[in-house]
Amino acid sequence: MIQIEMQRLDDIADDCVNMPWGMEHKEFEGNSEIWAPYLRFLYCFTKEFKPELIVECGVYMGTATEHMALANPDGLVIGIDKDFHNAAYNVVRRQANVRYVHGNTVEVYEHVMMLADELPLELLFLDSEHDGITPQKELETYEPLMGERCLVSCDDIHYNSCMEDWWDAIRCPKMELNHLHPPLTPDYVDTGFGVFIVER
Ligand SMILES: C[S@@+](CC[C@H](N)C(=O)[O-])C[C@H]1O[C@@H](n2cnc3c(N)ncnc32)[C@H](O)[C@@H]1O
Repeated sequence: MIQIEMQRLDDIADDCVNMPWGMEHKEFEGNSEIWAPYLRFLYCFTKEFKPELIVECGVYMGTATEHMALANPDGLVIGIDKDFHNAAYNVVRRQANVRYVHGNTVEVYEHVMMLADELPLELLFLDSEHDGITPQKELETYEPLMGERCLVSCDDIHYNSCMEDWWDAIRCPKMELNHLHPPLTPDYVDTGFGVFIVER
């Protein structure tokens, strides 16, 4: 069981911002997505807490997937997407601890459960449809796989009012780490990033 304290998460979030993009892994050379600090947060969290099972809802190019996979080669990372970017397939070829499931995040539970093979879910990363409804459904869908304690990280909690309402309704111990997803350029909005801990 992983022991997570909010203060430690806050410290990791502060420290990771100025770490090198891609954490000096050659796999990320030429990847335009690696600027976002939340990727380094996921890397550092995974390296320190070594979640046995990670589920990522919304993979796209596999940039976050590969950060988490590299941070703990002994942990299993299951990524779900209904429309993987081609670059994501390089990640699953490179990293032996990554499995992909193609489909709608809330409809592939049985497949994910089979791949999980009773490992406790200790990090759930919600980053698919930012409509406030899908993240809630994903949370409910994957809760049965959670270990005694699971960190849920959510990108874009301030993306729109639906996401803000969903985030406000979360009753678990939670923390906003919005500096982990700052605007890419000044004309972008600050879309936010949050974490909460589910205890079972
Ligand atoms: C923001 S991207 C994910 C980025 C990735 N988590 C990262 O940080 O590198 C969102 C992805 O979610 C996928 N997606 C959106 N809604 C989905 C759903 N209901 N089921 C499966 N995939 C979904 C999209 O196809 C897209 O590739």
